[in-house]
Amino acid sequence: MDVFACQLHEADTDLVIVSAAEEQVSELERWSAATGGEIGRAVQSGEFTGKLFETFLTPIVASDFRARRLAAVGLGPRSAFTIDRARRAATAIALTARQKKTGRIAFAADGALNTPDMIQAIAEGLTLAEFDAGRYKTTDYEPFALRASGIIASAQARHVAETAARRGRLIGEHCNMARQLDNEPGNSLTPPVFAARLSEVAQDGGLSVDVLDAAELERLGMGMLLGVGRGSAEPPRLVVIRYEPAGAPTTPVLGFVGKGITFDTGGISIKPPLDMDRMKDDMAGGAAVACAMRAIAALNVPIRIIGVIPIAENMPGGRAIKPGDVLKSASGKTVEVVNTDAEGRLILGDALWYAQRLGATHLVDIATLTGAITVALGRITTGLFGTPPAFVEHVRAIAERAGDRCWPLPLFEEYKDQLRSEIADMINTGGRPGGAITAALFLQEFTGGLPWIHLDIAGTSWADENKPFMPKGPTGVGVRTLIGVAEKMGEWELESKNRI
Ligand code: BES
Ligand code: MN
Ligand code: ZN
Repeated sequence: MDVFACQLHEADTDLVIVSAAEEQVSELERWSAATGGEIGRAVQSGEFTGKLFETFLTPIVASDFRARRLAAVGLGPRSAFTIDRARRAATAIALTARQKKTGRIAFAADGALNTPDMIQAIAEGLTLAEFDAGRYKTTDYEPFALRASGIIASAQARHVAETAARRGRLIGEHCNMARQLDNEPGNSLTPPVFAARLSEVAQDGGLSVDVLDAAELERLGMGMLLGVGRGSAEPPRLVVIRYEPAGAPTTPVLGFVGKGITFDTGGISIKPPLDMDRMKDDMAGGAAVACAMRAIAALNVPIRIIGVIPIAENMPGGRAIKPGDVLKSASGKTVEVVNTDAEGRLILGDALWYAQRLGATHLVDIATLTGAITVALGRITTGLFGTPPAFVEHVRAIAERAGDRCWPLPLFEEYKDQLRSEIADMINTGGRPGGAITAALFLQEFTGGLPWIHLDIAGTSWADENKPFMPKGPTGVGVRTLIGVAEKMGEWELESKNRI
């Protein structure tokens, strides 16, 4: 990400982007002369009012400008402006520019936007707009390779701006990496292939990786992960990624656990055909963990992290588990599988147990876990669960700034009655009422009482309509939150020590 420490007209780019909140839209009139009166006319006529994500493009006629076009993006009312709105506005205008094939773009971070946090968010937003979903198209496809966006920041903040822009680009690229994996169809991303792709991601980032095969899972007694994998011709895997930076304290050790179902047919409790294709993204949590860890390593965050990603394909093959089957988890607990479509919690239960065995002191899992979370929170908000409550609030605030909205739901123990089995320790689904909550309570049984966060991203991992700031398809939700959790772990430790 280039940083131009200069005036707007001096920036060596094809399109310059300016922005304005609704109350400040008249300030854009200072670019009227440069645009042959166009921007002034647009402001006067109400064509451009500064409404959130509103865009306006015009040629530049002034010969002292290096750019040939100017774009304006609205930031909405000043009182409602946030870091996430800056990020989204940057994506919105960059997507517009991309459609118009404008070439190199540079976003002017002036006024309230000229802070490190804002510059980072703008760099993230510009990078997110580069995501390219079309790699399997053979016609009508123009590969998108533009990596020429920049930020115009005032001269005195140059080094600060460069660091912030570099961080933003890096974080945005890792979100796009996760989106790329989410987009991959189930036939090309089988469990062994997904495990290999995650190893590549991790090894390229200098992280150490272990891939456990079915025989090793057998030795560890992971009956739930093996059970889910049994209906498929493709064997399950468990990927373990370790980040142990030199000089990091021995504790805390974060355990990131991500659901890695490469395709979820539902198994014998098979899903209806409508929208079943979306189930290729049932590994979005696993991809988020690996990509976030790679970013964390690149940012040199001084904290130990263990990533555990259980991977399987949920299929109704001849050897598949059947409703009523009892599985024994690695932790020793037994589970009666009343619905084979509630497979995520099964594989995550074994993975949460393993993360503890490897030394995790704090657990964060992320999973496309339940359709019920979409009933509760829609497609805007990720479901947030966990304990203790202060840790949940800590993560909620991080996610908010990261642009991954999430909201807490309760884990009242009365709900646990819904998981009672006649023949085993638990059943694997609590029925329709509070379905996202009973799924979270099932996971909690495998957390060993450690501080724990569960993010249910079933409603948020995939956008099913185009938004100005997010095209249809994989969103990369959770990547920025996990990075934030790692970066703020030191702060949490300090705070929680002071609380006791
Ligand atoms: N992968 C699904 C959850 C899901 C649903 C993700 C829709 C994205 C969009 C999960 O494995 C599942 O099938 N959950 C069941 C649980 C039920 C059987 C208790 C569900 O939500 O229907
Ligand atoms: Mn399922
Ligand atoms: Zn699933």
